[in-house]
Amino acid sequence: MPGSDTLHVVILAAGQGRRMRSSKPKVLHTLAGRPLLEHVISRALGLGAAGQHVVVGYQADEVRSAMAAHDDAGRIRWVVQADQKGTGHAVALALSGIGEGATVLVLYGDVPLVALETLEACVEHAREGSLGLVTAEFENPAGLGRIVRSDGQIVRIVEDRDASPSEQAITEINSGILACEAGAMKRLLDGVGTDNAQGEIYLTDIIELARRANIPVRGVLADAWAVTGVNDRIQLAALERRFQRMQAERLMAAGVTLADPERLDIRGEVRAGKDCFIDVNVVLGGEVVLGDGVHIGPGSVIRDSALGDAVRVEPHTVVEGAMVAARCQLGPFARIRPGTELGEEVKVGNFVETKKAKLGRGTKASHLTYLGDATLGEDCNVGAGTVTCNYDGADKHETHIGNEVFVGTNTTFVAPVEVGDGAFIAAGSTITKKVEDADLAVGRGKQRNIKNWVAPAERSRDTGEDS
Ligand code: UD1
Ligand code: MG
Repeated sequence: MPGSDTLHVVILAAGQGRRMRSSKPKVLHTLAGRPLLEHVISRALGLGAAGQHVVVGYQADEVRSAMAAHDDAGRIRWVVQADQKGTGHAVALALSGIGEGATVLVLYGDVPLVALETLEACVEHAREGSLGLVTAEFENPAGLGRIVRSDGQIVRIVEDRDASPSEQAITEINSGILACEAGAMKRLLDGVGTDNAQGEIYLTDIIELARRANIPVRGVLADAWAVTGVNDRIQLAALERRFQRMQAERLMAAGVTLADPERLDIRGEVRAGKDCFIDVNVVLGGEVVLGDGVHIGPGSVIRDSALGDAVRVEPHTVVEGAMVAARCQLGPFARIRPGTELGEEVKVGNFVETKKAKLGRGTKASHLTYLGDATLGEDCNVGAGTVTCNYDGADKHETHIGNEVFVGTNTTFVAPVEVGDGAFIAAGSTITKKVEDADLAVGRGKQRNIKNWVAPAERSRDTGEDS
């Protein structure tokens, strides 16, 4: 029976993942900064599924709460499989909440990189009345279910542990991903027993039963790496590198030069204009938007930020939650924290930290400065050692500085405080009161010089006192 247009996705994630040797469930280990399960769920979203049914068991509550942030619409139906009696059992539990006639696609929580087109092809077979099955050619198929064909047709799957030596020689493997009409899948699963090496209800047994019920089984061949499951941390690292390489190639294809495609990590989404250059060991996370000609120096970390055209990020700079306009220069060793908004041609140099700070066009803070909860107008010059004292131990307070203000070295602004346009702050000042436009503020102790000062050590030598 053909499956309808209504698609339900079942994601198997009840297992512990013993080979990870971890106290957290396998599906919560991350690939490119996101839990494996989240990758799989986003695939299901990409397919426009009407329902997502995630089967959890081992540390079910942890898995559910880790995913809560990504399920704000409550789209996921959580199915608890208390005892892991096999993949067939897990799917049967999920099917109890899915109406007959729907098309069902089964995904594995630990197979994160399968391509959308592969899944679409598999679903299409189900909609045409077949059972779609995703397979791949593996050089080393040990441990995986093997696809047994006769006259080219898939006739059954045999698990590694149950396979004869000749079956073990087969290199076409079962990815585990399959699709079929819901009612047919239920009926097939009803016929599955536990007569196998593990005494489990194997989902894979429905293949042979489908043949007997005259439901054609149609394979979709995928790339091996795309259906590689994560069983241990070595496989996880291999998939991570593979995924990063793909993302790097996508950026290069879009016109970005990478100093070394193997030494860039993207943990989120990146959009980049033309002729950007990204040096080695850069990490981009969350949502990053780069204009044209952006230069990112080595060792920099950029998260959830937008950098305008021709921005230069010098080495070892951390930028998070910031809007940076065209031609700004950041770093080396700058820390741009959330809520920072920099106008065009702003310079934020080494050992400068900004947080909730707006700096107007052309303003420069070149060295050793903290600007938090502050606004600075255009063309200000902030000397080294300037600090906005924004926190009184209980509350945060703001500093507002006008245009073309000169801030001398080692100034502290005790917020809340305001400085007018064109003001000049003498070096070493502690500013606690409003400074009017064009005023010079000097807020420091007067220097006192004492003539012919004798240092204590010399004094004791002169008098013969013991030290
Ligand atoms: C399964 C397939 C095998 C395939 C391989 C691909 C079966 C019987 N075998 O074997 O043909 O080559 O995947 O990776 O299906 N799970 C549950 N509940 C259970 C059992 C498993 O939710 O009761 C989940 C696991 O958490 C995991 C997935 O199903 O996400 C696969 O289970 P696993 O035990 O890893 O199966 P494999 O032995 O790898
Ligand atoms: Mg597995």
